[in-house]
This record gives sequence, C-alpha cells and structure tokens, in this order.
Amino acid sequence: MSKQTSTDTLMKLSLAGLVVGLAAIAWVAAFLGEFLTPTGMPWTNFTELVARFKEGTFAWPAAATWIAIVLAIMALFGIALLAASRGGAGSAAQRELGGRLATGAKLAPLMEKERKKDAKQLHPKAVDLAPGQVLGQTAAGKPAVLYQGWRDLGVCIMGPGSGKTSCLVVPRLAAAPGAALMTSNKVDGVAQVIAARHQLGTVWLWDPGKIYRQSDKPDFIFSPLWEVKGTEDAMRLASWIITASLKNNPRTESEAAEDAQFGPSGESCLAWTLLAAALTGKALGDVHEWISKGSFEKVSNILADEYPRPASEMRGFDKWPDRTRGSLVATTQRMCRDLVHDAILAWTTPTPGIRNFDTAKFMEGRQTMILLSERGPGGAGAVLTAMIKAICNAAVRKTPGEARLTIPLVGELDEVANIVPWPTLPQDFSHYGSRGLCFTLYLQGWSQGCGEWGTKGMQTLWQMSGARFVGSNEETDWTEGLSKAIGTYQRKEKDSDRKERLPKVSVQDFAELAKFSGILSSSVAPATLLRLTPWHKNKELSKTIEAGMAAAAAMAKGEPQPATDPVPEKQVAA
Ligand SMILES: Nc1ncnc2c1ncn2[C@@H]1O[C@H](COP(=O)(O)OP(=O)(O)OP(=O)(O)O)[C@@H](O)[C@H]1O
Ligand SMILES: [Mg+2]
Repeated sequence: MSKQTSTDTLMKLSLAGLVVGLAAIAWVAAFLGEFLTPTGMPWTNFTELVARFKEGTFAWPAAATWIAIVLAIMALFGIALLAASRGGAGSAAQRELGGRLATGAKLAPLMEKERKKDAKQLHPKAVDLAPGQVLGQTAAGKPAVLYQGWRDLGVCIMGPGSGKTSCLVVPRLAAAPGAALMTSNKVDGVAQVIAARHQLGTVWLWDPGKIYRQSDKPDFIFSPLWEVKGTEDAMRLASWIITASLKNNPRTESEAAEDAQFGPSGESCLAWTLLAAALTGKALGDVHEWISKGSFEKVSNILADEYPRPASEMRGFDKWPDRTRGSLVATTQRMCRDLVHDAILAWTTPTPGIRNFDTAKFMEGRQTMILLSERGPGGAGAVLTAMIKAICNAAVRKTPGEARLTIPLVGELDEVANIVPWPTLPQDFSHYGSRGLCFTLYLQGWSQGCGEWGTKGMQTLWQMSGARFVGSNEETDWTEGLSKAIGTYQRKEKDSDRKERLPKVSVQDFAELAKFSGILSSSVAPATLLRLTPWHKNKELSKTIEAGMAAAAAMAKGEPQPATDPVPEKQVAA
C-alpha cells in the first residue's frame, strides 16, 4: 500500500518535471535562436508572447529548432549522468527502497578504503590482497562496491533463481586469493569456477554421483578415515555418517522405533569401528563389512592396546543376548547404509593409479576444491563434510602459533543445507573467520536452514555472521522480525500534514525484492539495499570464463588435467 502511494507520487512528479523541462528548453532555444534568425518576437515578455499566440502572429526562429535538439540531447545526457551518480539503475521502487536505508558515509566500514585497512591488519603478509569479498553495489546514493571482510562469516538467503550462484558464488571463487572450495548439489556454476580458476592451480572435482564429471574412474581418493586420529574424530565422523544416512534413506516406523532404542549404542559401535579401521589402515568398505557381520570382538581386539575403554564397550556389545545384539547390528547398519554404494567406496578407497588428495598440499597456492553431492540413497554428504573439515583442519595447522592464515581460504558453501550433514556447523563455523577461513553459506530460505540446524542453530548462524544478505523472501514470520530489526521511518500522509511511521523494509518489500538484489545487514553498518552483478554481466570475468571453458569441458569428460604450478610465493611478502 505504502509502496503504491509513493510510486504514484513519484510518477506525477516525473511528468510535471518533464513538462517544465520541455517548456524551458523551448524558451531557451527560441531566445538564443532569435539572435541567429530574428523574428522580432518579444521572448522576455511572456504576456506579449501569449497575446501574439492568440492573435496568430506567433513566429518561431528557424535556428531555434536545432538549438532545441542540441539542448534536449544535453539534458538527456545530464539526466543519465545524474542517475548514474545516484545509483540510478533499477526500478523507481527499488531506488526509493534503497533511499530509505543506509547510503553514503554510513556504509563506509564496508567500502574499499576501510576494508583495505582491515585486510592489511588481518593479513599483513599478503600482497595486493583485495579489500574483501565483493557483496554488491549500493542501489541508492553514490554508487559504491561493498565488501565482506576477511574475518566475516557470511550467510545469504535468497529464493531459487535469484542470483546466489551467478552473482556471488562464481565471482567470489574466481577472485579468491588463495585456496578455495565450493559445494553444490547441481552443475550450476561448476564449469564457470573451473574455467575461471584452472590456470591458478589444480582444480579438484569430487563428484561420486556423476553430477558434472561423467566418468566411473575417480579423479582422486580421499578417505575420511585418514583424519581419524582418536576417539573424538571417530565420534565426529560417525555423527556425519549417521546424519547423512538419516536424510538420504527414509526409515519405516518400526526401524525408527528400533533406532530410538539402540541409537546411542549404535553410535558408539559405529564410531569405534571407524576408529579400528583407521588404526589398521582399512577403508570404509571394511567398516561396512565389520558392522554387517557384527564383528564386535574383532574391533575390540584391534582397539585393546591403544583404546581400552572403547575396546571394552565393543566387548560388552558382543556379549549382549542374541536378540538385542541383532537389533544393535541392524540399527548400526542403517546408520552407515550409505557405505554400501560402489561410488562412495571407489572415491574413498586408495587405489593404484589414482592420486590421493593431500589436504596440507591443497593449502599451497590457489588450488580449488569443488565438492558435489546429492541428497538421497548413495548421497555422499558425510564424506563431503569430512573433506571440508579436513581442509579446515589443514588450514588451521598451516599457521601453528599464528592466529590467521597468511592468505584467506575462501569457502562458498552453495546449497549447503541440501548436502552437508554437519549438525554443529553454526557453532563450528563461528570461529573459522578469526583464523582466516572465510565461509559463506547459501540457503534458499530461512526454514531450509531451520530444517537442518534447528531454529536455535539458525539464530546462532545469523548472529555469528558478519555479512547477512537476504533476497526476495516470502517467509513472512521471519521477515517480520527482520523488518522490525531494521527499523522505521517517518512519511507525510497523503493529502494531510500528519506523519505516519512505517517500516523501512516491510514484509511486502522483502517479498518483492527484485532478482539480483537484496538487503545487506552487517555487523559494522546499518542495513542497505544492494544490487548484484552476475558473472555473465561482468565483461572481464565472462571473458576469462569463456577462455577457460575448454578446460571445464575436459573435466566434465573426466580427462586428466595438465599439471599446474601452484602460485603461492607471488602472493606473500618476504
Ligand atoms: N550464463 C547466463 N546467462 C544469462 N542468464 C543466466 C546465466 N546463468 C544464470 N542465469 C540466470 O540468472 C538467474 C540466477 O541464477 P542463479 O543460478 O544464480 O540463481 P540461484 O539463486 O543460485 O538459484 P538456485 O537457488 O536455484 O540455485 C536465473 O534466472 C538464471 O536463469
Ligand atoms: Mg544456485
């Protein structure tokens, strides 16, 4: 309602402006034209002019037509310049919305100058480090690019097709100054990221489900068991496998009831079996086999020397009466149901002739990891999660004793709620920013995140994020809260002197946000409206991507990649 009223007023004002502008051009043109082609008309006496018009003796200087054309062109040019300097692109409604939110100096902490200072202080040894990761351009006021800082966790909630992948994921990965990783459950942006980064260092494409890479032979091997160095690691890996399995494989009611009873024991059973497999250099296939056969004694014997307590737990399970033991085996088997699939085992079992992925080496230079997985039977979300965690661990290990990475690691977790079964992600990610691991999570809606991490988890994620971006969203229960947090403004009521107080961004405004635009709220500045630029509208980037498309096509076919020299030293000051 409020938007409708203000748009009407704006249109009337624009029409009036146009009429006045045209009249002014005509008069100036006639006045000047009189000097070149005199007509004897009294151009400075308006009463006389009107009288002549009525009499029918009005004359128009011939030269005035050309002068009017020149003036009109100049006026149009001037308007265009003015519009550009006020961030004029976009609809009038969008500009009006932008005008209600923060503009100009209020956004200084997000702009190049301040962000550059932060970047220098956070990463003093990095040469030519960008001020931050580009978020977008202000939609009102003097145009300026706003940046997510190098210590900020980012969260972006925008509906399908609104520009997450093409405006943020692809350009930000293309610009990532060091190692970079992305997740997705579909091909969107994959070819573009390969094309943009393949010359910077090795691009690793983890794709057991053949979402992008159409080859049965794995590109490389990563076993999550390599990262299991103790009971905590084993428990963590078990929790990812269990969460993924629950999401990938629907259970019957009776299975769910059995799992509720035997769940805690099953979790320990799986964790200690993983630990035993890690200790003996086995693979996930062995874990599945030991669980299926109920080889509790075998696992207990392996663990006995180094891990006596888990070993005695396993011995205890082995002594359960046959019926309950059978139920425990069934529950644990369901928990690791995904480990039965050939593709997952092929990508996680060391195999001669296929290179192993080394997380420490990955952190050298500007390498790229693309992690693809779908949810559903055979979904490899657990291994994908283990790989992200392994990369984070390697990044943290890279700077022992130092607070932050020399060069930030960029992680763009596209479609994160659909594939990464990481129950404690909101808490875990909050401290990564302080180590130079800059993650941004992309969700299609607030409720999508709540389904994954619960409302409390989402609130944690939201509050921990230094950059929070919201595009078109119809989840009114949620946007109502956002609207309140952003605040109100005063506006004169139509046809009255009274003023009314309205939300700066109403629930309707959130629902009507245009594609490639959204509201940014951050930890350092008030909320503002941003316009985003998709990679295909960025001339330089689309040229780079076009040039790299052959490499992306070769990867899609599973062709081996040419060796690429890592490029770390150029990035780091002596
Ligand atoms: N190369 C391209 N040329 C023109 N338009 C494109 C191109 N790539 C994507 N688009 C369009 O840009 C819009 C945004 O797409 P994008 O994939 O970035 O959305 P998204 O927010 O990531 O959606 P989703 O949640 O479904 O992944 C879509 O309308 C899409 O059709
Ligand atoms: Mg997308």
